[in-house]
Amino acid sequence: MVELEDLPSVGEKTAEKLRDAGFADMMRLATATPKELSVKAEIGEGVAEKVIEAARKAEDIGFETALEVDERRKDVGHISVGSKGFNELIAGGIETQAITEVFGEFGSGKSQISHELAVTVQLPEEFGGLDGDCVFVDTENTFRPERIKQIANGFELDVEDVLQRIHVARAFNSAHQILMVDKINELIQSGTNVKLVIVDSLMAHFRAEYVGRESLAVRQQKLNQHLHSLQQIANTYNVAVFITNQVQAKPDSFFGSPTKAIGGHVLGHASTYRIWLKKGLAGKRIARLVDSPHLPEGECVFKITNEGIVD
Ligand code: GTP
Ligand code: MG
Repeated sequence: MVELEDLPSVGEKTAEKLRDAGFADMMRLATATPKELSVKAEIGEGVAEKVIEAARKAEDIGFETALEVDERRKDVGHISVGSKGFNELIAGGIETQAITEVFGEFGSGKSQISHELAVTVQLPEEFGGLDGDCVFVDTENTFRPERIKQIANGFELDVEDVLQRIHVARAFNSAHQILMVDKINELIQSGTNVKLVIVDSLMAHFRAEYVGRESLAVRQQKLNQHLHSLQQIANTYNVAVFITNQVQAKPDSFFGSPTKAIGGHVLGHASTYRIWLKKGLAGKRIARLVDSPHLPEGECVFKITNEGIVD
C-alpha cells in the first residue's frame, strides 16, 4: 500500500489537504484531472499534475493487455432488476463498472425500478444481489421508504436492516447534485460497502436550471463533469451506477420512437447501457435495450406490483 506521504512532492500539509478533499487513495488520485485536483484540494495546478503522475505510477496505470481487461471484467457484478425477463435482456442484471440509464415518460417505472434495485443490491450473490449498500441521490423528492418496506417484505428481508443500508441524499439543485458525488467517494473511503449508486432523476435539475439555447453549452459541460465523476466511482470501486432520465417529445418523427431521451450526446456517450421504458396495456411495461457495447437489442415485458418489479 502506497500512502499519500510516500509520493514525491507531497508533504504532511498537502497530504492533509488531499485527504480533506476526498483524495485518500491512489486510484482516486490517479483518475483525477490536474484542474479538478487543484480546485478541490486547493493546491497549485503544477503540484496537482505531479501528484497525479506519481499516483498513476504507483497504481501502474498505462496500457492494459486484453488479458488484463478480461481479468478486470471478471470482477463485474450484476444486480437483479427483479424480473427474469428484464434480467435476461441485460445479461443478468445491471452491471458494476458501468452506467446504466433508463429513460421513459412519466409513470413508466423509472423510480420504481430504482427502489427495487436499492433492495436487490443488498441480497446475497446467489439471489441476484451483491451484498452491498446503496446510495440513492433523490433529485425530485420521490424516494419513499414505504415502497422500500413493501419490496423488502416481498423478499422476506429484515425491513429495518434494508432501510439502514440505503443512504439517501436529497439534491436541491444541480450544483448540489454534482457535489454529492464527492460525498459518495468519502462514504466509500470510510469503509461503507457501496455497490450501487442511483441518481433519480439525473436531468431534472439541469433541465430546469439551464433554459434556452445560450445556456446549453454550459449545461452540457457540467453534465459531462458529473457523469465523468460517476463513471470514476463505478470504475474505481467496482460499483454499478443507475441513472434515470426523462424524454422530450420528438414531433418530427412519424415512424419509430415518438420520444427521445434528453441530455444529448454527452449523456448518450456516457451511458454504457440505455434502456427505454414504455407503458403498455393493462399496467404492463415494456423495456427496450437500445444501446449496449456487447448485447443485442431486445425487449421484455414486466409489471410493477406492490412487491416490486415482476415478469
Ligand atoms: P416520473 O418520475 O414521473 O417521470 O415517472 P417514473 O418513470 O419514475 O414513474 P414511477 O416509477 O414512479 O412509476 C409510477 C407507477 O408505478 C405508477 O403509475 C403505478 O402504476 C406504479 N406504482 C407505484 N407505486 C406502486 C405500488 O405501491 N404498487 C403498485 N402495484 N404499483 C405502483
Ligand atoms: Mg420518477
